[in-house]
Amino acid sequence: MITTTGSASATIRVRTFPAGFVWGAATAAYQIEGAVAEDGRGRSIWDTFSHTPGKVAHGDTGDVACDFYHRWEDDLELLSSLGLNAFRFSIAWPRIQPDGRGAPHQRGIDFYRKLIEGLHSRGIKPAITLYHWDLPQALEDAGGWPKREIAERFGEFAEIIAAALSDADALWMTLNEPLQVAHQGYRVGTHAPGQRDDALAAAATHHLLLGHGLALRALRDTLPGGGNVGIAIDFHPVRAIGENAREAATIADAEQNRLFFEPIVHGTYPRAARPQILPPASLIAPGDMQLISAPIDFLGINYYNPHYVKIDDDEGRPAGKPSKVGPSATDYTPPELPRNALGWPIEPSGLLDALVAINEEMHGDLPLYVTENGCAVNDQIDPHGEIDDAPRVEYLRGHLEALHGAIERGVPLRGYFVWTLLDNFEWAAGYDARFGIVFVDFETQRRVPKRSASFFRQVAQANALAGAGQPDRSAPDEPRQG
Ligand code: FCB
Repeated sequence: MITTTGSASATIRVRTFPAGFVWGAATAAYQIEGAVAEDGRGRSIWDTFSHTPGKVAHGDTGDVACDFYHRWEDDLELLSSLGLNAFRFSIAWPRIQPDGRGAPHQRGIDFYRKLIEGLHSRGIKPAITLYHWDLPQALEDAGGWPKREIAERFGEFAEIIAAALSDADALWMTLNEPLQVAHQGYRVGTHAPGQRDDALAAAATHHLLLGHGLALRALRDTLPGGGNVGIAIDFHPVRAIGENAREAATIADAEQNRLFFEPIVHGTYPRAARPQILPPASLIAPGDMQLISAPIDFLGINYYNPHYVKIDDDEGRPAGKPSKVGPSATDYTPPELPRNALGWPIEPSGLLDALVAINEEMHGDLPLYVTENGCAVNDQIDPHGEIDDAPRVEYLRGHLEALHGAIERGVPLRGYFVWTLLDNFEWAAGYDARFGIVFVDFETQRRVPKRSASFFRQVAQANALAGAGQPDRSAPDEPRQG
């Protein structure tokens, strides 16, 4: 619903979200927890990768990160003070099964139990991701995601967690961004475990999907009532610039968006993807695609930016740096688009387009959440000790408008998780890329909410967004007109 308020001279649009809308912040274990050698935690591929010279900016590691493992109670207080009603976090597999197999480690389970109880007692809904990239190193040593066995181990891990935490009133997600695991982890090597091999990436693709299917089955069988289970996938709407880019755009869309979405919702691999990207038939056992496409309760969408495809040379070659994901110039970005501190283009309409397209394909039947969306900014503390992160406020406002636009168009959107609560270990970019709505001084671990935190708090508390031009300091709580 869009209402207006204010005097004749200044009309302000107030976009109200549906009752019960979920407003959360998203995080991931390796990015915030630290305490990598405590309470029997095993080694993960990210410990190995970040300690390998040259892999992460400045040689940063997640050894300490935000020290969330020790400071989680204070951080839950922070969440409460921001008025958020959901918190997305992931479970570090190596805390539960240090070698990725065998009996669960009680101290690991206790940590997440306490965390969930702490959330429940504050009226904050847990949104639990089972795999946000920290594979036990022992499983990588056994071949990692390119091996079918790892999918089976992941199914067992899911069963352990579901049994141990079955009383959690939570949203459950099997995997986070499996595309990035296969692509960055096994095809281009920019993420752990740093492999560079198309065949490994294609095999990892199938086994990640199979792992999703097995974990989904385990959660269904173990959680009361089958749980509320989905997966978080990253979407990058592909924009073709010019007619001659259409075919390349279709291929890029297949390889960047449909590669995981289509098997999960339809049980098929996208035909338009190139053969070297698709898992070979020899890896697909009878029954796999049925397991992978078993019904989910919701789809989590991570959105940061669209991809542009442009082909402007007479021989039909890509105009920019060819991407290894597609035969297209996916690294091309229209120069007029603003960018975040990592150089990622900013285009809120991409979120609207993704949500509308996914919903059309699902005939309106699948509830959706935005499980990640946020902006890296070179934040600075001013002399008053405050952080005025205007570009992030602008970013959030634009994307929340897009979100509301999708709801207006009938998309069954249930919630939004900002990436992220705290500045943290941003994978290969280390600690330089600050995505938090709360600033972290990594020397002292002091937390300072940024202006975006107060903006987001106002939106969450009002369950509404005041229109552009409205100073974000004033909550949209004035009388509204229909
Ligand atoms: C996503 C990841 C998340 C974070 C953001 C910036 O791809 O899921 O962990 O790094 O990007």
